[in-house]
Amino acid sequence: MDLIEKIVSLAKRRGFIFPGSEIYGGLQGFWDYGPLGTELKRNIKQEWWKTMVYDRDDVVGLDAAVIMNPQVWQASGHVDAFTDPLVECKKCHQRFRADQTVGLQCLDNQAHDFTAPKVFNLLTEVYLGVTEPKLKTYLRGEITQGVFVNFKNVVDSSRIKIPFGIAQIGKAFRNEITPGNFTFRSREFEQMELEFFVKPDATEGQKWFDYWAKQRLDWYIDLGIKKDNLRFREHEPEERAHYARAAQDIEYHSPFGWKEFEGIHHRGDWDLSRHHLNYKDETGKEYTPWVIETSGGVDRAALFFLIDAYAEVGDRLVLKLHPKLAPYKTAVFPLLANKPDLVTKAQAVYKLLKPLLPVAWDDRGNIGKRYYAQDEIGTPWCITVDFDTLSDDTVTVRDRDTAKQNRVSIAKLADYLK
Ligand code: GAP
Repeated sequence: MDLIEKIVSLAKRRGFIFPGSEIYGGLQGFWDYGPLGTELKRNIKQEWWKTMVYDRDDVVGLDAAVIMNPQVWQASGHVDAFTDPLVECKKCHQRFRADQTVGLQCLDNQAHDFTAPKVFNLLTEVYLGVTEPKLKTYLRGEITQGVFVNFKNVVDSSRIKIPFGIAQIGKAFRNEITPGNFTFRSREFEQMELEFFVKPDATEGQKWFDYWAKQRLDWYIDLGIKKDNLRFREHEPEERAHYARAAQDIEYHSPFGWKEFEGIHHRGDWDLSRHHLNYKDETGKEYTPWVIETSGGVDRAALFFLIDAYAEVGDRLVLKLHPKLAPYKTAVFPLLANKPDLVTKAQAVYKLLKPLLPVAWDDRGNIGKRYYAQDEIGTPWCITVDFDTLSDDTVTVRDRDTAKQNRVSIAKLADYLK
């Protein structure tokens, strides 16, 4: 089994990610998150919000609607330019994005015989109203436009001044031609984005473009992604999105090659000027700010964090997730499930910790199996209540990564884990 197959299998078996609509044969490009995947995604979003909003004085949050007036998408350029070129092989009838065919072979081991590229729009159409003609609009293809159309509302309702940012997390939808590589390219996915508004000045724009690129790379490293698996890649002019005057990706060294993790885009005044929005500074001077954007995928982050954390240590499978991202921070076990004194004491420890942090309970099988079961979902510390606990109120705390065990008093347990 290759690494990605192992991740898909673990994700399904332990309740991180399931194929969408699975009992009806699935739906290509859609995925459902199970109990543990839901926690992983929540933790990613929580860490992002903390870094991007709570820890700063110059960023505020927003939660805009998924469906907007179709004029938004006309003005933003997405109706005309949010497209991918599709080609089909005349022999095997497989379809590919025209820019992703290098080195591909047909089923007969010869070169594909491609049709001329056809351009498809990625926006997903929706129809509103009950009587004809219904209003045709779109599910948002990027969460970004909700920020721009609310630019004036945010400026007028808060005391924030340029340079400042608006942060948002939410679902986006793209009618991707070739969804694939597990959740890497889906048709429904979540984005976490910052739109940072600066003075329209080349030095100022470059300063913040460099600042945010470094800040975003450091965020992934701080949360445990191996440095060697990350790199920057500058976009060539011809591959830039229609709104970008400069762009670079943070790429991840995935099992399917170096792939885009997050994009840092210099959007210039593209969006605000298309929506006819300006900014008036404290001197009364009016101008159209420039925008530096950081745009990452929550699902893609969940996938790359899982891949990067996956380790096989002897016969153990260990998910070395950063403790901030791990679905459970700890698990409590009675050494033996058939000793009522141990179970009662272990339950007391479990109840003591439960209000403080996400904690799992397990009394099935033997202690070794329980360690294995927690290792493969990334629980950083396991707590065992044994016979000594009954006399001295200490427990064994086992570290996921070193498998080392420490004796800790129950009174100091919460501090120890923190
Ligand atoms: N507002 C800018 C924007 O949307 P993008 O490069 O098209 O830029 C930003 O997307 C990020 O959103 C990507 O780096 C990726 O993490 C995530 N993303 C984009 N398309 C995706 C898809 N089909 N499936 C999963 N994640 C996706």
